[in-house]
Amino acid sequence: MLYVCATRAASAVFPFGERVSMARRKKIYEGKAKILYEGPEPGTLVQYFKDDATAYNAEKRDVIEGKGVLNNRLSEFFMTGLNGIGVPTHFLRRLNMREQLVRACEIIPLEVVVRNIAAGSMSKRLGIEEGTPLPRPIVEYYFKDDKLGDPMVTEEHIAAFGWASQQDMDDMVALALRVNDYMSGLMYGVGIRLVDFKIEVGRIYDGDYQRLIVADEISPDSCRLWDIETGQKLDKDVFRQDLGNLTDAYTEVARRLGVMPKQATHLGKPKLIN
Ligand SMILES: Nc1ncnc2c1ncn2[C@@H]1O[C@H](COP(=O)(O)OP(=O)(O)O)[C@@H](O)[C@H]1O
Ligand SMILES: [Mg+2]
Repeated sequence: MLYVCATRAASAVFPFGERVSMARRKKIYEGKAKILYEGPEPGTLVQYFKDDATAYNAEKRDVIEGKGVLNNRLSEFFMTGLNGIGVPTHFLRRLNMREQLVRACEIIPLEVVVRNIAAGSMSKRLGIEEGTPLPRPIVEYYFKDDKLGDPMVTEEHIAAFGWASQQDMDDMVALALRVNDYMSGLMYGVGIRLVDFKIEVGRIYDGDYQRLIVADEISPDSCRLWDIETGQKLDKDVFRQDLGNLTDAYTEVARRLGVMPKQATHLGKPKLIN
């Protein structure tokens, strides 16, 4: 399956129908949840979604069958919607079950987190009970470095160490808050509370002009999603806290949003056509 998809994706680079093997597609980076390959056109990358799940800085890990397929579809869905309302993202198009074509960008080495309700590390660090609504969305930055455990940083660190300019930070906050409004509304419409999420932001160049876009992924791996009625967790905390089947939780999110086609249970017995 993978071989077929990879061949099809790569054949765009070689329009004369040469046989292209998987080995000829250049792997750029393999991370915890995704693999980046060189894309078919300059300035593009193919983002492959793996089934690997990690938590607590990869201390806990497992392979969750189907997670990559769900995240590929969900990230496509969210980013298409964001592109549609004028929030720029790296997403170009989905290629197959596990891969999407994205714009290559220079990733700013920060995770930008927006919180609407206290949970996770904020609850622990500040002693705020999980589930407490925050008076306003709070934006936080974490330095993307697995060896250091992605430490929280302030704008002072970011400016002093040159990870981003003050203008970049203002743009990142504006992007993150627009993503928050869009995602909160979308989720509210299907009975889910957007508790918090993280995005990664990348820089792209159009000639002399540069701008920031939402990159990486937006999926239940990078959001906290709670059912409004029951409080049930429908995100990666299901894996972090051993609360049940992660694929079932992500499938529920996709089902509510109408993203995944329903299981083909309606097929039944073949019928004679007169
Ligand atoms: N459009 C893009 N251009 C370049 N790099 C990207 C883009 N989108 C995501 N990335 C990077 O690709 C990697 C995705 O793989 P992932 O498994 O999430 O890695 P990690 O283990 O570093 O979180 C991340 O390091 C992310 O910053
Ligand atoms: Mg990642």
